Amino acid sequence: MSERCPVIAIDGPSGSGKGTVARGLARALGFHLLDSGALYRLVGLAGAKAGLAPGSPRHAEVAAAMAIRFGVGSDAQEQVFLDDEEVSGQIRTEDVGNLASQVASDPKVRAALTERQRGFALPPGLVADGRDMGTVLFPKAPLKIFLTASASARAQRRYNQLKDKGVDVNLVGLSLDIAERDARDATRAVAPLVAAADAISIDSTTLTADEVITRVLQLARTRFITR
Ligand code: DC
Repeated sequence: MSERCPVIAIDGPSGSGKGTVARGLARALGFHLLDSGALYRLVGLAGAKAGLAPGSPRHAEVAAAMAIRFGVGSDAQEQVFLDDEEVSGQIRTEDVGNLASQVASDPKVRAALTERQRGFALPPGLVADGRDMGTVLFPKAPLKIFLTASASARAQRRYNQLKDKGVDVNLVGLSLDIAERDARDATRAVAPLVAAADAISIDSTTLTADEVITRVLQLARTRFITR
């Protein structure tokens, strides 16, 4: 699977631009895309819909059983379905992001999602975006990127994204939320947010998404893509 199919692993903290960069890379290369954060967000949302408390061990059952589907709408926007309900907007809220970070610290939830995630590695290739793509999910990926940005740039980006969607947010509160989420993701016992030993770090603080994409495409060409 991942041995026969090239994987570009993009890991990093919230707001580092991973999602935009991963989408752009997948489009440029004609590769599949794995937004692994969406899976943890779906577990958090499905648990909340089932009335589970945030730390409930029953989230692992939810992760194993949930019926999910990804699609593209007529406006070319990505769509995410949970049990046939479109939840694309619901999973992007900060509340669901925080729930996702909490459920993601449960090793049984992570184990329940492992094979689903590896199943995305199909020819001609995969761009995988998350926290543990290069360390745990795809350790043999020929190209691993660890994307960072200053804390203030990351908070400002997330603020702009939410404002664009018409969500009323407060920059200070958002910065605190992001700091708390990153601390939890980086210090958990299983699959913490950490750069793989063979990852290339890119600081996107002063770069546009297109500049990061160009840099990663150059790396991909030198490493494994001949097109
Ligand atoms: O990338 P995101 O903001 O959509 O991710 C939401 C949360 O999911 C994040 O705070 C931590 C968790 N997550 C994870 O633990 N491992 C991944 N590979 C992706 C996300």
